[in-house]
Amino acid sequence: MQADVREIVISSEEIQRRVREIGKQISNDYVYKNPLLVGVLKGVLFFMADLLRAIDIPVTVDFIAVSNYSAEARNQGIVHLAKDLETPLAGRHVIFIEDVIDTGLTLNYLLRNLRARQPASLEVCVLFNKPEHRLINIPLKYKGFDLPDRFVVGYGLDYQEKYRNLPYIGLLDARVLKEHTENEKGRGPK
Ligand code: IMP
Ligand code: MG
Repeated sequence: MQADVREIVISSEEIQRRVREIGKQISNDYVYKNPLLVGVLKGVLFFMADLLRAIDIPVTVDFIAVSNYSAEARNQGIVHLAKDLETPLAGRHVIFIEDVIDTGLTLNYLLRNLRARQPASLEVCVLFNKPEHRLINIPLKYKGFDLPDRFVVGYGLDYQEKYRNLPYIGLLDARVLKEHTENEKGRGPK
């Protein structure tokens, strides 16, 4: 698997250090607020697990899942909830946790959905920010890293459901992406 990676963009150590810093910030900002961390499966799995352990105040966690949707649907900002939250949000201090934000369409849709449930506050924490394709301006209260407009894998981010378990963020070898494009025309990574 490592042989498929052309270049490491952010090392595991850098990620761990930054996640610990964000955890400290959240712990300072949310004292006595019992924040609820909400994540979208599955990409956020690793970030959520490490972030939770870097927070040293009482905190709870819940997840939503969005169903597989086409690039066309995503471009129109259409997202289907495959699994909803179990926790009522009314009156809660909610932090929405995302692994990566690109156009912002997915996040925008989900934030609208959560805001309608009237939380006491709703902020966004994203680990990897790709600002170049942003279509919707979303204030990011906590941000890990800015990434260039390149397709990356690892630390939860997948390519065809693979490579999530790499502990770093890396670029895939052109050979891997090419094999895919040849097998399945036109459905390469964005
Ligand atoms: P957007 O912000 O609505 O464009 O969508 C962001 C989603 O696209 C993320 O939740 C990821 O699933 C996916 N994504 C964006 N960039 C990457 C990447 O570099 N690697 C893997 N998945 C990505
Ligand atoms: Mg995601």
